[in-house]
Amino acid sequence: MNKGTLFINNISKSFNIDNKDIEILKDINFKIDEGEFVVIVGHSGCGKSTLLKIIAGLITEYNGNVTLDGEVICKPDKDRAMIFQEHRLFPWLTIRDNISLGLDKSNKEENDKLIKEHLKLVKLEGFENAYPNQLSGGMSQRAAIARALINNPKVLLLDEPFGALDALTKIQLQNEVLKIWQKEKTTMIMVTHDIEEAIYLADKIIVMSSRPGKIKEIINVDIGKPRDRSSYDFATIKKRVYKHFFDTEDISVEYTI
Ligand SMILES: Nc1ncnc2c1ncn2[C@@H]1O[C@H](COP(=O)(O)OP(=O)(O)OP(=O)(O)O)[C@@H](O)[C@H]1O
Ligand SMILES: [Mg+2]
Repeated sequence: MNKGTLFINNISKSFNIDNKDIEILKDINFKIDEGEFVVIVGHSGCGKSTLLKIIAGLITEYNGNVTLDGEVICKPDKDRAMIFQEHRLFPWLTIRDNISLGLDKSNKEENDKLIKEHLKLVKLEGFENAYPNQLSGGMSQRAAIARALINNPKVLLLDEPFGALDALTKIQLQNEVLKIWQKEKTTMIMVTHDIEEAIYLADKIIVMSSRPGKIKEIINVDIGKPRDRSSYDFATIKKRVYKHFFDTEDISVEYTI
């Protein structure tokens, strides 16, 4: 099944802030092949979330266009799901009801099967009747991933999905997302401030500049997955990303942007 080839064609976007038109994104062009994992990095405010919202169809006023499998994107659709830093589950619904919210209710048997499959996929079996406030941050984010994947989207958009999690949970979820991606073959576009996370997951890292947000470099990460974070190849890519942001050769220090 086709899982979504995206063309981002000449995107420019301004916002009117304090009666001035401020150029936020400028001349953004890139292609994402079906099943590719693309990670976007750049300083706060450079327009990463704006770009994801354009791809999601949540922002429709901009110059340029985005096509998904040849169709111009002009509104949100189930073929593109988005995950945010905070899980955005409905607190009054059980995990089961949160996950199945977008499903067509007419086929109960099929839905039950899908819910079961997706609870298993994100390792939340046994928690279907729990409420979001009974889950940890990592578990809630896993439920949000299940909710996003249950409609079988072609593209998953992840906006700093693990930004609010502790370091160990974050690594655990990175591994889980990697496994899910390898199984489902969904096209992934993730925004992160964590450069290690970007290198661990991405086939392609898009480095953006600020004011206006432009593409500085697209880095192909040709290392087999899962990746060894302490390998020479990993460090080489890290150095290449760091040089866009830090005036240092010292990659033994952990930085986030
Ligand atoms: N709806 C809006 N109206 C006006 N300005 C906006 C709007 N949304 C975003 N902006 C502005 O666009 C710029 C880019 O915002 P965006 O949220 O895309 O940045 P970002 O790269 O995701 O930042 P962060 O890393 O902090 O999440 C910011 O200067 C922000 O103030
Ligand atoms: Mg953002």
